[in-house]
Amino acid sequence: MCKCLDLFDDVFKDFTDSQTAFEESQLIPVLQKLQEKYGYLPQEVIKRLSEKTGIFVSKIMGVVTFYSQFRLQPVGDNIVRICFGTACHVIGAENVADAICRELDVKLGDTTQDKLFTVESVACLGCCSLAPVIMINDETHGRLTPDTARGAIKEFMEKSSLKGAEAQSCNEGK
Ligand code: FES
Repeated sequence: MCKCLDLFDDVFKDFTDSQTAFEESQLIPVLQKLQEKYGYLPQEVIKRLSEKTGIFVSKIMGVVTFYSQFRLQPVGDNIVRICFGTACHVIGAENVADAICRELDVKLGDTTQDKLFTVESVACLGCCSLAPVIMINDETHGRLTPDTARGAIKEFMEKSSLKGAEAQSCNEGK
């Protein structure tokens, strides 16, 4: 259950006032703002948005699932984005992804049990000459091999003192 629908009201009031009704063209901006506040889009929030705007839940869900920027599940404290755009895919994104997922003991698209990392696949990160590329939060790492990808994750954990994540790491293949 989402305990803080107050946050919803805070966000929603910026999109309406007593004079004007909510317009469908505001749906994406309000969803972006709600996601910024909650970190993802809880079902209760989508339901409340539907009640307040009169837009069917199915229609809101259509928008949420169409755009990859929206999340229906909470994410970890850190996001690892693995590029599966054409250049990265051709040069070995899959092997890089396998190495990272083994290192963090998580499936692609999921969050580690300790909630420290979410690992997701994305389309082009815009630096194809560095393929294969990942981003750990805002840091870009390029020309990776499975080994250097694992190294980037370990280095990030050391730098951030993520002891819990280290304990989660999978030692398979080492
Ligand atoms: S395809 Fe990966 S950065 Fe462009």
